[in-house]
Amino acid sequence: MLSQWLSQPNGKIANMVDDTRVIALHVLTSAGFGISHDYHGGARLPAAGHKLSHRDSLMTLLNHLTTTIVLGQMPWLESIRSLLPKHLQHVKQAINEFDQYMDEMLATERRLMAQQQQNSAKPNLISTLIRTSDEANSEGQTGLRLTDQEIKGNLFIFNLAGHDTTANTLAYAVALLAAYPEIQDWVVEEVDAVLGEDEDVKYETVFPKLKRVLAVMYETLRLYGPVPTQPREALHANTPLTITDQSSSSPSSPPSKSRPTKTILIPAGVGLSLNIHASHTNPSTFPNPSTWDPKRWIKSPSPPASSPSSPATATGTATETDDFLPPPVGYFPWSSGPRICPGMKFAQVEFVAVMSTVLRGARLLPGVKGDVDVGFEDARREVLSVVRDSELVGPTLSMKRPEDLVVRVLGR
Ligand code: HEM
Repeated sequence: MLSQWLSQPNGKIANMVDDTRVIALHVLTSAGFGISHDYHGGARLPAAGHKLSHRDSLMTLLNHLTTTIVLGQMPWLESIRSLLPKHLQHVKQAINEFDQYMDEMLATERRLMAQQQQNSAKPNLISTLIRTSDEANSEGQTGLRLTDQEIKGNLFIFNLAGHDTTANTLAYAVALLAAYPEIQDWVVEEVDAVLGEDEDVKYETVFPKLKRVLAVMYETLRLYGPVPTQPREALHANTPLTITDQSSSSPSSPPSKSRPTKTILIPAGVGLSLNIHASHTNPSTFPNPSTWDPKRWIKSPSPPASSPSSPATATGTATETDDFLPPPVGYFPWSSGPRICPGMKFAQVEFVAVMSTVLRGARLLPGVKGDVDVGFEDARREVLSVVRDSELVGPTLSMKRPEDLVVRVLGR
C-alpha cells in the first residue's frame, strides 16, 4: 500500500478510505483465515469464478445490512432474481458471491488441514472453528458441533465486525495526523526510536513500546469510534442501572466511582441505547473534549530544562519511559463486560503495525482535490471538514464524503 501511495504524482492519495479497507481485509483474511494476498490483487479484484471481488461483495452487504438479513432469509428469491428491482438483484448477487468466497475459504482450509500434520498446521480462525467442531462431533458432543452454515455465519460476523471498524479508524487517523503535523512529529519520534532501521521487527519487542501510535488509535476512537451507540435490553424486571451524577463533576473531580451516583430500575424488555460518543466527549472525563489530542493518553517524563526534548541516549530514548495512561471509566469504544469486542487486541495490533509502517516510510500532509495547490492551512481546513462531516453509514461511523479526502503521502 505504501509503495503504491509513494508512486502517486504529487503524492496525492484520493482513495484513502478504499485503500485502508483493502489493507484491513487483507490482514483479516491473512491472520484470521490463513489466506495471504498481494496488495494490488487479492480482495480488490474478483477471484477466478467470481464477478465481484471479496471486498466489493462484503462492502455491498455491509452497506445494505438490513436488506441482506431479509434477503438472506428468503433463499427461494434466487429463482426469480432477474425479476427483482435492480438494487435488490445487486445485493442478492453480493450475498451469493460472498457465500461462495466463504465456501472456498472453508474448502481451502479443509484441504490444507488434510495435507498437513494437525499439529504443524498454523492455526487460524477457520481452522480453529473446523477443528473444535470436528472434535466435538468425534467425541459424541454433537450439540456442540457447528454446521458449515454456522461456521460461515461466524466468518460473516468476523468479516462484518472486523473490517470496516479498523479500516475506518486507520483512515481517520491518517487524515488527522496529516492535519496535525506537530502530533505526527511526536509519533514519528517514537516510531524512529523503536523501529530504527531494523528490518526484522518482532511483535513481542516493539508492540509494547509503540505507545504513542496506540495513543493515536485511542484518541481517534474517542472522537470517531466506528460504533457510536450500543443497543442493550433489560432481561429481568427491575434491572438496576447505576449512573454517576454528572452535575457534581468537573475535570478535577475524583474518579467517577467516588462521585455521587443514583440507581434507576429498568423494567424487563426495555431497550437502552448507550451513547458511547456522548461518554467520550464528556468534559468531566476528557478536558477539551472536542480537541483531538493523542498526548492525553501518554504521561511523558519532563525533559531536564537544559536538554532538547526527548533526546536519544546510549541506553535508549526518552519515548521508552512514556507511560500509557489507563483508559478512564466512560471510555469504551470496544464496549465492555461479557460482550466486549473479541477483536480488540487484533485491531490494536493491526492499527499499530500499519500506522508505524506508514510513518516510518512517509510524511503525511493535508491535500485538496484536483491539480491545484493551496497553502497548508487551506488544505488542513479541507481535510478536517471532510473528517468532521461523518455519519453512520450502514453499521459504522464513516465520512460522508470519502471521495473528497485528499492526503499527500511523501517519502521520508
Ligand atoms: C477499531 C476496531 C474495532 C472496534 C472499535 C470494535 C468495536 C466493537 C463493538 C463496540 C462491538 C459490540 C460489542 C457489544 O455488543 O457490546 C464489537 C463486537 C464484535 N467485534 Fe469488534 N471492533 C473492532 C474491531 C474488530 C475486529 C478487528 C474484529 C475481528 C477480528 C472484531 C470482531 C468482533 C465480533 C466478532 C463482535 C461480536 C461479538 C459478540 O457478538 O459478542 N472487531 N466490536
